[in-house]
Amino acid sequence: MTEYKVSFPRNQTDVFALPGTSLYECITRANLRIKNPCAGQGTCGKCRIRILSGEAVPSVQCRKIFSEKEISEGWRLACRVHISGDLSVELPDESVPEEGLIILTAEDSSSSYELNPLIKKKFVRLANPTLEEPISDLENLIRVIQHARFDLNHLRLLPDFLRKNNFTGTTVFSEKNLVALEDGDTENANFAIAVDIGTTTVVAALLDMNTGKQLGCRGMLNPQVKFGDDVLSRINAQGQSDKNLKSLQREILTAINKLIGELCEAFKVSNSNIYSVSLAGNTVMENLFLGIPIKALGEIPFISPFSRSLRFTASELGLQVNPCAETFIFPVIGGFVGGDIVSGLVASRLNERTNPTVFVDVGTNGEIVLLYKGQLYAASAAAGPAFEGARIEAGMRAADGAIEKVIIQDGELLINVIRNVEPKGICGSALIDITAEMLRCGLLDETGRIVSPEECPAGTSDKLKRRLIASKDGNTFDFLLTPQDSRKKIYIRQKDIRELQLASGAIRAAINILLKKAGVTESELDSVLVAGGFGYFIRRTNAKRIGLIPNLPDAKIRFIGNSSLEGAKAVLCSRERLRYAEGIAAQVKYVEVSLDPEFQMEFANAMMFPCQSDF
Ligand code: FES
Repeated sequence: MTEYKVSFPRNQTDVFALPGTSLYECITRANLRIKNPCAGQGTCGKCRIRILSGEAVPSVQCRKIFSEKEISEGWRLACRVHISGDLSVELPDESVPEEGLIILTAEDSSSSYELNPLIKKKFVRLANPTLEEPISDLENLIRVIQHARFDLNHLRLLPDFLRKNNFTGTTVFSEKNLVALEDGDTENANFAIAVDIGTTTVVAALLDMNTGKQLGCRGMLNPQVKFGDDVLSRINAQGQSDKNLKSLQREILTAINKLIGELCEAFKVSNSNIYSVSLAGNTVMENLFLGIPIKALGEIPFISPFSRSLRFTASELGLQVNPCAETFIFPVIGGFVGGDIVSGLVASRLNERTNPTVFVDVGTNGEIVLLYKGQLYAASAAAGPAFEGARIEAGMRAADGAIEKVIIQDGELLINVIRNVEPKGICGSALIDITAEMLRCGLLDETGRIVSPEECPAGTSDKLKRRLIASKDGNTFDFLLTPQDSRKKIYIRQKDIRELQLASGAIRAAINILLKKAGVTESELDSVLVAGGFGYFIRRTNAKRIGLIPNLPDAKIRFIGNSSLEGAKAVLCSRERLRYAEGIAAQVKYVEVSLDPEFQMEFANAMMFPCQSDF
């Protein structure tokens, strides 16, 4: 069969593809990168390319996204074009994944934890056996290390080890189990790795287990994003073939090993001295890391293959640390409330609180845990990808060039751009800011409609009014975020506000349903803990203004950062916290909010923005 040539002149490369191959596949085969938040479903509109020459019939999705003029100029969605002849294609900058993603790594964390780690090292000096006291090797060791448990493998190693080292050496224990014997005194070299596997980013921290202190932290984009931005795309991808499942597992394992390698090199630590690892991720990420098929997670009733905590050796998992290192996988609460939330509960010490508290992790999937009268209730809310920038026309992740903060002050609009470069788009925190600011200034009404310049409240500056521009169809208004004379104009469109209402409304409706289930009101809440990398960057006043979180005094709303990573560190340092992590998941009442009869009504109410008079 004839192969067609697909060239990318701007990138000076080309590939050959069979008829029917998607252009998206050609791009990845050419080792080029393109955004694909919806994993090629044709819904996110982020994989925009321009056909420079050749035939590419516009699909229905292309016609929805692009105007007639853009279609005639060659604009298409790469995932919706199937090759039927030679093509010359341009990948515009805006379609290439962002560089310089801001990842909350807790690089400066000075936290240290109460030390009672699972893994301990002890240097031993044994008596040399004699004819007068012909003590066996094992009894000789047990005399020094009482209550220890040994396996056959170590018993086989022990005679040579003791004689080679003149009856001294370092023993490594996981609780009472001997896991390794090391030459010389290596008590000072006992390290651990905590990992947070997020859907978007992976973060690892290296800990010194003699002090409980973090030596350093590294993060990177989760390479699985090539299979789509959200967990549903990954579930679908792994369900398509065993090959996909294997490659999803390999991608995340390679990423974690890369971060471990970087940390070891930076802090001059040998991999072989890392004896414990903890991994926290959402249910999908943990299963994919373990290489477990998760088709059932994509279907009602969303069953995870496992829920209890798991322990494996590093060698079983392929982690590049000491092969005997004990690896703790956090338990999961439900299909969409995973180990990262359990880890967050460990970090936030929710069990030690007595007053009503809401823990919320804001992301593509919002997870909420409510503590009331000693009982924990958990739920998840499918917020969609708006906070990650997908489905927002100018949306992007928090990376170089993203508008990350917006303020309206004295009738002027002020924007803050990551790295102070020319703005390329808007990230989730700024989307919340601009919505809150427009509500405050009356440029947006409580239903979420952007008003016309004529409808603006008295006293609105002309500068702001000029930013309200009639949309292409003439039915709605858009709000210009960049200066009027800027080369690249960035707008917040009416449909972007609708996407935010859907995302925020889903999370808020889930909070309200949990409050109702527990029989507690919003005003009775003592505190709200906002977790997660995204949550760290949002501003509490604005999050309250759009109704995303309950309207409590600022002092009662705390941002707790990457609590998933913090919890993963805590269990390495403290056996008590590890026990808590092991037991907590089973004590949580999981509420499937979407099946609650009141969900639709709560969701519809939560989509409305709160009244200005409440603030
Ligand atoms: S529209 Fe093509 S990847 Fe989303």
